[in-house]
Amino acid sequence: MVRIAITKGRIEKDFCKLLKKCDFDIAPIENKDRELQIRTQDNIEFIFAKSNDVLTFIEHGIADLGVVGKDTLEENDFNDYNELLDLNVGKCYFALAAYPNYKDKTFISRKKIATKYPNIAKRYFGNMQENVEIIKLEGSVELGPVIGMTDAIVDIVETGATLKANGLEVIEKILDVSTRLISNKVSLKYKSEEIYNIVDKIHKVIKEESIC
Ligand code: PRP
Repeated sequence: MVRIAITKGRIEKDFCKLLKKCDFDIAPIENKDRELQIRTQDNIEFIFAKSNDVLTFIEHGIADLGVVGKDTLEENDFNDYNELLDLNVGKCYFALAAYPNYKDKTFISRKKIATKYPNIAKRYFGNMQENVEIIKLEGSVELGPVIGMTDAIVDIVETGATLKANGLEVIEKILDVSTRLISNKVSLKYKSEEIYNIVDKIHKVIKEESIC
């Protein structure tokens, strides 16, 4: 049995579409209600969790495989996993965004930056050798500049609609994001056949789709 921890929500939906294309049995997932653990005919057990918890389950060897966004991987300090596949879904990017006058503005004091991803923001401004104040928000990060609390944000941009609706724009693109398939290192050693059986099927479908 291989246990896969999947990030609930958009990532879960995208990943299930991929599994369906690979002819895996996903009926129990499609028909699930609020169950958090599902076993399928393929002898795969799925658990559905918040993104950071997917990493925790991989770290503790509770899950053999994890499906998680690159944003979560980059934001967390945990590095003891193997990244097996870029699933080519959930594509978006991190950007520094602000009102259009950001670049021309003179800042008298330290810039304030709102973000849900303080480590990514710290790393970005560290590389730029800029000393800024990072303010962590849990969501709707665009509110930072909108309510006049921060000068800019570091956040995920997918369609750009949220920025546009709030009069903000991308100042600089920071990092591409997509959904990744990762594994626990010990699982990869001891369940390699079962794991690569799954990985190879998914890889084949991704390859075919990228050719189309
Ligand atoms: C994310 C992100 C942006 C928005 C970007 O938020 O933090 O706010 O999506 O998407 P767009 O470029 O397509 O507009 P999410 O919807 O996950 O909710 P949140 O703001 O509560 O974090």
